[in-house]
Amino acid sequence: MRADLLTARRARALANAPRRGVLALQPSILSADFCYLGRDVDAVAATGISSLHVDVMDGRYVPNISIGLPVLESLAAATDLDLDVHLMIAEPERYIDDFAAAGADAITIHAEACVHLHRSLQRIRALGLRAGVALNPGTPLSALDEVLGLCDQVLIMTVNPGFGGQSFIRSGLDKIARLRRRIDETGWPVEIQVDGGVSPATIGEVVQAGAHWLVAGSAVFAAGRPVAEAVADLLAAARPEA
Ligand code: DX5
Ligand code: ZN
Repeated sequence: MRADLLTARRARALANAPRRGVLALQPSILSADFCYLGRDVDAVAATGISSLHVDVMDGRYVPNISIGLPVLESLAAATDLDLDVHLMIAEPERYIDDFAAAGADAITIHAEACVHLHRSLQRIRALGLRAGVALNPGTPLSALDEVLGLCDQVLIMTVNPGFGGQSFIRSGLDKIARLRRRIDETGWPVEIQVDGGVSPATIGEVVQAGAHWLVAGSAVFAAGRPVAEAVADLLAAARPEA
């Protein structure tokens, strides 16, 4: 792609992202009804939410298999929502170009899954996307030491990746708080995302700890009530003072 087009794509990927420092929900379609995916995506868009989280699993890096390139392509053709792709796959560097071509606005790769983390983040940015690193609950923040400046977003996992509907791992809260301090010290434009077990019961503490972009799957799509109500419940719990 030409350099000016790449710059335009990255400008769009940054502009379409939720604003840094501002609370945003990113519903994970992993818990949507895939027979009615368009309906569920429209329900998200109708709430005013601007970003959708797309979980890609390969059955190797994580024990589950979810969705991949064809679904992302269909989503990109059908919606203007920001498409935030979370690659839970081994050797994610092999697929960065393909997911960019399929319409991702952001690609997050796992530090644990990627031998050439630095190069891969550079590649994601060079393709005009936001670049993210995800850390599993057992991975220390020090995994970010040499790459934080290449990240637009860091995804703190508060479950072990692979499945929706798991219980929130509370040790993630201290990790979020430490990362928040670190980012504030550096002044780098990096946002903290949290993924796993985000619900009305946990979202308030996650925000208090210093994260602003909150991924939620089952609490949005499998809450036993319409998406709009589930989103309203999450936002109310995230901002208890409002
Ligand atoms: C889990 C995925 C999550 C998942 C979260 O490995 O990365 O994005 O959809 O699901 P909940 O919100 O149900 O924990
Ligand atoms: Zn995810």
